[in-house]
Amino acid sequence: MRIAVFAGDGIGPEVTAQAVRVLEALGLSGLELVEGDVGGAAYRKHGHPLPEQTLDIARASDAILFGAVGDFTLDHLERRLRPEQAVLGLRKELGLFANLRPAKVFAGLEDLSTLRPEVSAKIDLLIVRELTGDVYFGEKGTRTLEDGRRQGWDMMAYAEDEVRRIAHTGFKAAQGRSKKLCSVDKANVLETSQLWRDVVIEVAAEYPDVELTHMYVDNAAMQLVKNPGAFDVIVTGNLFGDILSDQASMCVGSIGLLASASLAEGSFGLYEPIHGSAPDIAGKGIANPMATILSAAMLLRHSLGLEEQAARIEAAVAAALADGVKGGDLGGSAGTKEIGDAVLAHL
Ligand code: NAD
Ligand code: IPM
Ligand code: MN
Repeated sequence: MRIAVFAGDGIGPEVTAQAVRVLEALGLSGLELVEGDVGGAAYRKHGHPLPEQTLDIARASDAILFGAVGDFTLDHLERRLRPEQAVLGLRKELGLFANLRPAKVFAGLEDLSTLRPEVSAKIDLLIVRELTGDVYFGEKGTRTLEDGRRQGWDMMAYAEDEVRRIAHTGFKAAQGRSKKLCSVDKANVLETSQLWRDVVIEVAAEYPDVELTHMYVDNAAMQLVKNPGAFDVIVTGNLFGDILSDQASMCVGSIGLLASASLAEGSFGLYEPIHGSAPDIAGKGIANPMATILSAAMLLRHSLGLEEQAARIEAAVAAALADGVKGGDLGGSAGTKEIGDAVLAHL
């Protein structure tokens, strides 16, 4: 079992170090961790945010544990050299089209949410976000119009096979949960979304046991704070999923709590917190590592088939929170290592 560990920039290395401690504490025999450079850190060392040797490490692994990339001091670079291209490149190169972002309130910790406890108490949803298409990966550029104005443009497009495979992921996920799937789009305005909706409806015929609904993304953003308990599985495109998952994190309590799995066909996956490199708190030892620790649990479950160990980690995180071990993002004062210590103690 070989896991590639790509810590990246900002708080990435800080939170990844705690997740690695947790993985090592499990004492799994035959587990090998191999580090690689990504993001701004890789650019500074190798002149590229996703060097060939990093891709080689990824391809020779069973799964990737990823921290975060992003460095504002490199935002002037041409886009292909910016830190974010590391995670975008890995997703595209490795066919990681299915992004699972679960958001569930921790029992007894409803008040971590920025919503009223009686609203947050019911949150147990899964966002299934398409990850290798949409406006993220379409042609893009800037041009000068005939009248001299500059224009930036990005092409939004989905081909039917891209929609079909993520729809299957959404329906299968719903079958394993409460059998409710909500497809989120903007079909009232966008052709991309109309095709998305048509294809999801076609795929639904293969899942008669799942109740399919459709919702426009603006309404979904509203319903997520009004009545998030009504959602079970949400399937949506790359851009809408990015935005709704940050929002869902605050419904649970903090972006420092939400883990994710980015899966290819088969068992290979990349696992990362949904947050970024948080430059405002980087280097201070105060980032919450729980999202990354929970991502490591998802890695054990989805890529290595180690459900029991995954559940142990999740229980240890919940127990640490229940003890009142909270980072600044949750209104507490526990530091990154202290939170790691608390999770390890429960493990
Ligand atoms: P961010 O997620 O890094 O931070 C948003 C806010 O949440 C900040 O106030 C930050 O301090 C806080 N925060 C995030 N994670 C936290 C944690 N674990 N504990 C405590 N507080 C936490 O988003 P941003 O500020 O918009 O972006 C910063 C950089 O990260 C940008 O360069 C962006 O492109 C990049 N980014 C990378 C990823 C990724 O690697 N997958 C994801 C999102 C953003
Ligand atoms: C995420 C991030 C990335 C995205 C960025 C860093 C490219 O926001 O993983 O949610 O937009 O997908
Ligand atoms: Mn995001």
